[in-house]
Amino acid sequence: MEPYARHVLVCTGGFCSPNRQGRMLYSLLASLLQREGLLFGPSRVKRGETPCLGVCAGGPIVVVYPEGVWYAGVTPTLLERIVVEHLKEGRVVEEAVFYRR
Ligand code: FES
Repeated sequence: MEPYARHVLVCTGGFCSPNRQGRMLYSLLASLLQREGLLFGPSRVKRGETPCLGVCAGGPIVVVYPEGVWYAGVTPTLLERIVVEHLKEGRVVEEAVFYRR
């Protein structure tokens, strides 16, 4: 199996984001990864959804490994920045980080 450079977990639960915005983000993430060429090759990204990341407030919550960077309040616009700036270009979107590791 070809290795992944990063894993992205999106919380799709209803406690951190009562309108379940995470579900929409999880779908959007697939198309953004495809658009940015992150599904194959050395920058390959694996996306995953989880029902809870234990934060349960201020969501949607998105976590990127191996850096262990946790993003809060992720909107579609912010998700696009995370994909382009963090996943593709390797620059963490610092102003949206609320926790590391
Ligand atoms: S429901 Fe999203 S962190 Fe718990």
